[in-house]
Amino acid sequence: MATAPEGPRPSPLENLTTEERVFPPSPEFASSANLHEDAYAEAERDPLAFWAKQAERLTWSKKWETVLDWSNPPFAKWFVGGRLNVAYNCLDRHLEAGLGERVAFYFEGEPGDSRTITYAELTEAVCQAANTLAGLGVRAGDRVAIYMPMIPETVVAMLACARLGAPHTVVFGGFSSEALQARILDCDAHVVITADGGYRRGNATALKPAVDEALVDCPDVHSVLVVRRTGQDVGWTEGRDHWWHETVEQADIHHDPEAFDAEHPLYVMYTSGTTGKPKGILHTSGGYLVGCSYTHWGVFDLKADTDVFWTAADIGWVTGHSYIVYGPLSNAATSVLYEGTPDAPHRGRWWEIIDKYKVSILYCAPTAIRTFMKWGEDIPGRFDLGSLRVLGTVGEPINPEAYVWYRENIGHSRVPVVDTWWQTETGMQMISPLPGVTPAKPGAAMRALPGVFADVVDDEGRPVPKGSGGYLVLTEPWPAMLRTIWGDDKRYVETYWSRFPGLYFAGDGAKRDEDGDIWLLGRVDDVMNVSGHRLSTTEIESALVAHPKVAEAAVVGASDEVGGQGIVAFVILRADAGDGGPDVVQELREHVEHEIGKIARPRQIMIVPELPKTRSGKIMRRLLRDVAEQRPIGDVTTLADTTVMETIKANLAAGAEGQS
Ligand code: PRX
Repeated sequence: MATAPEGPRPSPLENLTTEERVFPPSPEFASSANLHEDAYAEAERDPLAFWAKQAERLTWSKKWETVLDWSNPPFAKWFVGGRLNVAYNCLDRHLEAGLGERVAFYFEGEPGDSRTITYAELTEAVCQAANTLAGLGVRAGDRVAIYMPMIPETVVAMLACARLGAPHTVVFGGFSSEALQARILDCDAHVVITADGGYRRGNATALKPAVDEALVDCPDVHSVLVVRRTGQDVGWTEGRDHWWHETVEQADIHHDPEAFDAEHPLYVMYTSGTTGKPKGILHTSGGYLVGCSYTHWGVFDLKADTDVFWTAADIGWVTGHSYIVYGPLSNAATSVLYEGTPDAPHRGRWWEIIDKYKVSILYCAPTAIRTFMKWGEDIPGRFDLGSLRVLGTVGEPINPEAYVWYRENIGHSRVPVVDTWWQTETGMQMISPLPGVTPAKPGAAMRALPGVFADVVDDEGRPVPKGSGGYLVLTEPWPAMLRTIWGDDKRYVETYWSRFPGLYFAGDGAKRDEDGDIWLLGRVDDVMNVSGHRLSTTEIESALVAHPKVAEAAVVGASDEVGGQGIVAFVILRADAGDGGPDVVQELREHVEHEIGKIARPRQIMIVPELPKTRSGKIMRRLLRDVAEQRPIGDVTTLADTTVMETIKANLAAGAEGQS
């Protein structure tokens, strides 16, 4: 039998777009920046010496003997032999340095209540919570589940666990009782910390009933601590349930922190996998804190005595763990903590908060930025945003147009924007511009941070040339890396380390441009195959968002009669574009063709009012593929708003669909 002649190897991922805009830092910013260009060379010369130097940012009760033990890859040990207490590093040592009166958090509740919490007050509260938990029998190594709204007590609960060496698992308050139960059981937590409820979108939403429901089948949970936030009625199980204000707030304010091994588990954070049950990502103490502390200081150019820092994300995600709690507190930063949504009670709430607290560094997700674009720039225009000096994004590729909108309308064209790529698994930011060093390109994460080593490889794991696309990998271990999947070493090795032996496979597509800079192209599971070309959804979405009528776009590949996949785009129009006019679909298809080329011209464009998103803001393309291929819609239970798919379907049925 004849074998097919070998043609040129297909590119793992096409490089479709070029972006000409570059925004270098201003000379003033560059001259006073925390990190300079030389950090890259220093880290490259001797990565372990570099990380040892960063570890000196922390206070160790016993210094490490070896920076990295990589003798049993992919199971890493960092700062071997070192001992420290994470909570001490986030609290007590700042008091010892005379910073007790510095504000740790400006808390802004959604209904408008606010609290200012100093480092001294936070330390007292954490000691009280640690004493209470110890009284409930929590010992080093025991797991504690936390299911809370975005309130200061959530931070207190996490740090109290860290202080006791009891790994926490924070479950996002928007998750269901089933999700909570699965996580409690998987990590075998015996204590749960929760609240009666929290405020979201103008309503008091209950949390305690979900805990009660989850615990029906969790016989080992013996204690539940309940914070009173909303004053809602709650069910009560005598002997098991305890009010926070009757226990924690009455407890002794002194607690001596014990030092734990650098590799002592700090927390387990569950993240969804492509199949089956969520993965419990395990982070440990020393390396994780070094990574968060260093990146929070370097990537945001933190000046702890003057900046007001705000990560507008939920503590229930890794972004909240690393950049609301551990990074900022280890650096003695002053942060804003906001409980609610950006549109409660009005669409200018974020900008009002920035104005009120003179926030100087804002970190948020591209999905939020695209929502603000949709609402229009006149809303932020009503507030004084002059205090801002660094802007950041995380969570998804940011479309160049959204980046430029953020830079112009929020940063008033003078504030650097850092697009930071990382994952729950990496624990810390990995690829990002440095605000005082990098001439940033809109939409590019640019370059691995000093001390981090990343590459873009082809199907065989070979680095791709400049100008090509492929798979993002990390080529060296890093301090905040996950250590394993809780209770499942085999899945850890298979998921991250077997696609390309010796390399960490992130699951993301990426490209290197002609300068060698890195652009993220979305999850590889979202790659489309159009006439034999593998195209990333990200670049086509960005082309759509660059059209003045478009606020947000999601692109999927839908199987077509010819056997390949056709490009189907779902588009949300900007508020000021009205219904887009009778020719909007044709206009957008031509626009994509013009921006990228004929290959990327969508077969179909559907104008929709909403897009299906997970609770962390990621677009669920799987459901859009179902619509595009006219299948029944799959599982919608992980959607932030489960009615969205109905709205989309109704909208399409009403005739707003554009066919080619
Ligand atoms: O696909 C990448 C995308 O988000 C994934 C990680 O998601 P998660 O573990 O929930 O953590 C989000 C917060 C760190 C990545 O595999 N992602 C994250 N940041 C970026 C990004 N994609 C492109 N650009 C980014 N800056």
